[in-house]
Amino acid sequence: MGFQSLVLIVIVLLVSAATNQAIPVDINDPHVINVATFAVTEYSKHNTEANLIFEKVTNGVSDVTENGTNYRLTLSANDGSTSNNFSAIVLENPADNFTLTAFALIPHA
Ligand SMILES: *[C@@H]1O[C@H](CO)[C@@H](O)[C@H](O)[C@H]1NC(C)=O
Ligand SMILES: *[C@@H]1O[C@H](CO)[C@@H](O)[C@H](O)[C@H]1NC(C)=O
Ligand SMILES: *[C@@H]1O[C@H](CO)[C@@H](O)[C@H](O)[C@H]1NC(C)=O
Repeated sequence: MGFQSLVLIVIVLLVSAATNQAIPVDINDPHVINVATFAVTEYSKHNTEANLIFEKVTNGVSDVTENGTNYRLTLSANDGSTSNNFSAIVLENPADNFTLTAFALIPHA
């Protein structure tokens, strides 16, 4: 599968996940930063070649679903030489447990 179609699938996922009533998050909220750090750490755990260091949250929304709070964040992370933007979806269940649902590089505009 080519990179283009992968990007397309992620965009479709993000758009379909965006149908709930989402509210913007405070990108400086320590809890939001916690969620973003989890996403980067979890992604790096399963993609050892990525080896990303979380930098900051640039944008984000959250919405409450039957399974917990869903965070859709845009964040920047550094692979050791370059900084890139990523989009991440993390579900936080009522037991304060995070699940990484999606993580994808946002290509340069
Ligand atoms: C909640 O979790 C169940 C079981 O994993 C799933 O079938 C359902 O689609 C989820 N609901 C939402 C809103 O994500
Ligand atoms: C990341 O996003 C910010 C804010 O939208 C933008 O200014 C910056 O150029 C982006 N960086 C890359 C590497 O795409
Ligand atoms: C998340 O919840 C599952 C099931 O409740 C549990 O087994 C797991 O240890 C929890 N993970 C964390 C990081 O709390």
